[in-house]
Amino acid sequence: MKRAEVKVPAEEIEIQKDFIRKIKELNEGSLLKYSISTFGCQMNEHDSEKLAGMLNDMGYVETDKTGESDIIIYNTCCVRENAELKVYGHLGALKKLKESRPGLIIAVCGCMMQQQDVVLHIRKKYRHVDLIFGTHNLYKFPELVFNTINSGKAVIDVWSSTGSIAEDMPVERKDGIKAWVTVMYGCNNFCSYCIVPYVRGRERSRREKDIVNEVRMLGQQGYKEITLLGQNVNSYGLDLEESKSFADLLYSLEKVEGIERIRFMTSHPKDLSQDLIYAIRDCKKVCEHLHLPIQSGSTRILSEMNRKYSREQYLELVGRVKDNIPGISLTTDIIVGFPGESETDFDETIDIMERVRFDTAYTFLYSKRTGTPAAKNPDQVPEEIKKHRFDRLIAVQNKISREINDLLVGSVEEVLVEGLSKNSTTMYTGRTRSNKIVNFRGSSELPGKLVKVRIDASQTWSLEGTVI
Ligand code: SAH
Ligand code: SF4
Ligand code: F3S
Repeated sequence: MKRAEVKVPAEEIEIQKDFIRKIKELNEGSLLKYSISTFGCQMNEHDSEKLAGMLNDMGYVETDKTGESDIIIYNTCCVRENAELKVYGHLGALKKLKESRPGLIIAVCGCMMQQQDVVLHIRKKYRHVDLIFGTHNLYKFPELVFNTINSGKAVIDVWSSTGSIAEDMPVERKDGIKAWVTVMYGCNNFCSYCIVPYVRGRERSRREKDIVNEVRMLGQQGYKEITLLGQNVNSYGLDLEESKSFADLLYSLEKVEGIERIRFMTSHPKDLSQDLIYAIRDCKKVCEHLHLPIQSGSTRILSEMNRKYSREQYLELVGRVKDNIPGISLTTDIIVGFPGESETDFDETIDIMERVRFDTAYTFLYSKRTGTPAAKNPDQVPEEIKKHRFDRLIAVQNKISREINDLLVGSVEEVLVEGLSKNSTTMYTGRTRSNKIVNFRGSSELPGKLVKVRIDASQTWSLEGTVI
């Protein structure tokens, strides 16, 4: 359905900016610190950059030491159970700190909070939490912090609405070279295992002019690469009254000065259009990399998952992508042990991996999510079988990833230099257009530059080379 306007009104954004100013005045003269721990996907990482932007403007300084912080934030994920368990572990460990420093504000936000039972559980078991908010009212963070400071009581504000879009809020990006840009929020697909549509609401696309303006500004600030974010970028624009497709958006962003590389994720195979394939082929800045989650290689399981494509359709699509875009790197997500998955179904997943030859596969053990249709399926796969299949899958994929990387030895790749390699003072790191990590000897003027690197050696996860 087309929509006219879902933007948060400019006056509401101004109100929040007033709260930012008020908190800054309160904080005048004291050096207050914050720390944010982020769980989950790039969407959440980017939301944390928005929280950091607001906190910086309130006069707080970032620290990586939780113990020194005056505000501690957990931006949570609920896509799998282990992501949730980690958050509870961290919250439990903060009880003592809160006792010793009553002025400390402990806040939890993000996808987990969009589930009522989680909020109730935190209220009951983690009474030292001061502030709880959700994904739909992130832009109200300044007001919520102000109320927490002023009331001295716990503040809880979670909206169940499908949400709106807040533009023009401060953002503090972690990186100066690569930036995330959200193009759409929410998801309409309701894959039967997935909680995301319930906690992120329905699809809302940002207006093309807002996205282009943001990317222009990033180009002026010296950013070289952008990654466009959405749960399913292929349906970008379907809800806008001006008819814009994701391919159209790529052509518009291709023209932005300063930006050298454009990436995007995630693409749902069911609606990856031929126009998008042509856009990836024809836009010089759009990198030859496609993250195309397959989830399973069995048509029966795909149908149970409500993915709306068959094994054959996926293979046909991959064939078309490879024919049109030479050298494209393909990555994927796979769930192991979806309810009812038989050994034959799983063999089909292994088989399709060998046929497609993904560069990398992100593999997950199926995790039961309360409220999703698959959680009610009585045919759950026992843990040991899931783990055994998982290990088999990883062994097959690792071999393929290594073989693909081995083929690159001797070739020359364009690398965007990101900075020093971890734990090194001489080795630098960057990525190829196909998103592979390359380490090489370099010097401090390289970060932010595109360089040509000859690949000398390969591993499963990375490459080594020499700048030429
Ligand atoms: N919108 C993206 C995926 C977002 S979630 C897409 O559709 O491709 C990232 C990945 O988590 C999914 O691709 C899926 O492989 C995995 N995932 C989602 N729910 C899961 C669950 N209940 N158990 C295990 N893995 C899950
Ligand atoms: Fe979840 Fe499916 Fe939406 Fe991806 S497309 S977020 S897997 S429901
Ligand atoms: Fe997790 Fe929410 Fe992302 S559930 S995967 S952080 S959209």
